[in-house]
Amino acid sequence: MSEVHVHKVQPAWRERALIDNETYQKWYAESVADPERFWAEHGKRIDWFKPYGKVKNTTFDAPVSIKWFEDGELNVSHNCIDRHLATRGDHVAIIWEGDDPAEDRKITYRELHEQVCRLANVLKKHGVRRGDRVTIYMPMIPEAAYAMLACTRVGAVHSVVFGGFSPDSLAGRIVDAESTFVITADEGLRGGKAIPLKENTDKAVDIAARHHVMVKNVLVVRRTGGRIGWADGRDLWYHEETAAVSADNEPERMNAEDPLFILYTSGSTGKPKGVLHTSGGYLVYASMTHQYVFDYHDGDIYWCTADVGWVTGHSYILYGPLANGATTLMFEGVPNYPSVSRFWEVVDKHKVNIFYTAPTAIRALMGAGDAPVKNTSRRSLRVLGSVGEPINPEAWEWYFNVVGDGNVPIVDTWWQTETGGILITPLPGATDLKAGSATRPFFGVQPQLVDNEGKVLEGATDGNLCIVDSWPGQMRTVYGDHERFVQTYFSTYKGKYFTGDGCRRDADGYYWITGRVDDVINVSGHRMGTAEVESALVSHPKVSEAAVVGYPHDIKGQGIYCYVTLMAGEQGSDELRKELVAHVRKEIGAIASPDKLQFAPGLPKTRSGKIMRRILRKIAEDDFGALGDTSTLADPAVVDDLVTNRQNKK
Ligand code: WT7
Repeated sequence: MSEVHVHKVQPAWRERALIDNETYQKWYAESVADPERFWAEHGKRIDWFKPYGKVKNTTFDAPVSIKWFEDGELNVSHNCIDRHLATRGDHVAIIWEGDDPAEDRKITYRELHEQVCRLANVLKKHGVRRGDRVTIYMPMIPEAAYAMLACTRVGAVHSVVFGGFSPDSLAGRIVDAESTFVITADEGLRGGKAIPLKENTDKAVDIAARHHVMVKNVLVVRRTGGRIGWADGRDLWYHEETAAVSADNEPERMNAEDPLFILYTSGSTGKPKGVLHTSGGYLVYASMTHQYVFDYHDGDIYWCTADVGWVTGHSYILYGPLANGATTLMFEGVPNYPSVSRFWEVVDKHKVNIFYTAPTAIRALMGAGDAPVKNTSRRSLRVLGSVGEPINPEAWEWYFNVVGDGNVPIVDTWWQTETGGILITPLPGATDLKAGSATRPFFGVQPQLVDNEGKVLEGATDGNLCIVDSWPGQMRTVYGDHERFVQTYFSTYKGKYFTGDGCRRDADGYYWITGRVDDVINVSGHRMGTAEVESALVSHPKVSEAAVVGYPHDIKGQGIYCYVTLMAGEQGSDELRKELVAHVRKEIGAIASPDKLQFAPGLPKTRSGKIMRRILRKIAEDDFGALGDTSTLADPAVVDDLVTNRQNKK
């Protein structure tokens, strides 16, 4: 193992910080010794219409049930907007930076209030009620934020679908949520290219109808003015609708455990799961982590480069920052348009203090050299963040030394869609940093490492990462399928939440996430179930069987490697390879694009017919010497074929 470089907390970080190491130790000890008391105190950081009496009511044993602040009442949009109006109505809530550097906009809290109230009234006018599911399929424009907040205002449950997903994927999510109201835009704009969001929505709505979910209305934001189809009676223009209603709207009183949003995420089996988050605990946790992890101070300009289609966008573009009254920057574009200096130019233009991005972006920019960074100032930066996948030490050091000029702390934040907020992370003024380690648990989070049999491992060790007690931001269920929730997260190791990640704990008690131990791969920080890609491949008429694994990729972290067995009589060719790649993109979306596709006469299987992915992973990694025990294979010759084919291609 390479030598670990420790970066001590610098005096300047500590002086500014909300939390120093002594405070971290003290609060952490209190938070696990008496969670009830700790969260009773910190729950007060948000506004409650009716204060909670009961704080924690959670069990990871059957029947699994998770409730926080269960008798409290609140409204999330009130917390993110209205409660700031008296003190900072004229402060900027959202800085919007367009794909085109010439386009930007600043939206104050007062303006945000008006926009969200109007949209809430539009939703109500068209019959959207408490508990109804609204699907949001939007580019990174302020209206996406208005849409999410307007849902929370009327008590509707939003389901945001990333704009890179295909009509089929969008339809699947509309159907699963039984959502009858969709908000979209004519087109999205990224790196100068238009994305046909309305056209995709039209297709998705038709597919959903075939599954008996009838979308009543599609509300369309005009972003590019591009040509789109129009269904009279169903489709509504956002600008017309919002102009025709009042700018006053009273937020609904919601229970702490009322659903706030659904976000679909891939698992190791089957269709994506609808991860359900509720209102009170989620907001407490998102706002508290946003404040302490990023050492957020009043007046700071904060920028998270994620898309609102992912949980990072939910918790750390929108809900956490706005609940804290922050200025949050929303970026429509991509890191390399018009040039690879774009991120740093935006940092300088808006004097960004806190910058949060993904390792894949850091690696890609690192590949373009230091000059595009060094010809910008970046003097405003005070905290850098990383999220989505393990950050390799080389990328970490580059981020630290080149982007941060060696004097800005990096918070490597480990969490998941399911956790709602950050669970393992440094705190800028408290935690000595080690390049590549997510370091220590946040308040109230109790990680545990176990072996494959569930035996608890102590001290410095490798293991499977579990969390032993609940935290307020935890998901509550899989939408419509509580049994799947219990099965997926609480059955592998009884009484514990299993994350699906492997992890090492070092002698200092620091955690190092090593990646997924299940059949989920992480492509550019996006989760992909190998089963999903396989089922897309076998839906092609020429494909008989498919097995998909991850392999190390310089920029993406992991790439998608597909082994495909064709129907009898079919021949593998470059043309068919292209056709299959296009087929997967059409079925799932561009994010599932296979990087490598190998035609295989047969797949390695056990005598009981189970595909041996361990072997396929090794071949994809070019690790032919370490194929391990192949004696249980039904036909060991299959492996020789795969290896020969792989080697011939190099
Ligand atoms: C998986 C969750 C919630 C953030 C966006 C991804 C991996 C996430 C880190 C990190 C190492 C990380 C894990 C996790 N992951 N952050 N800092 N270091 N791995 O959310 O799509 O739900 O994926 O991303 O494997 O299980 P997600």
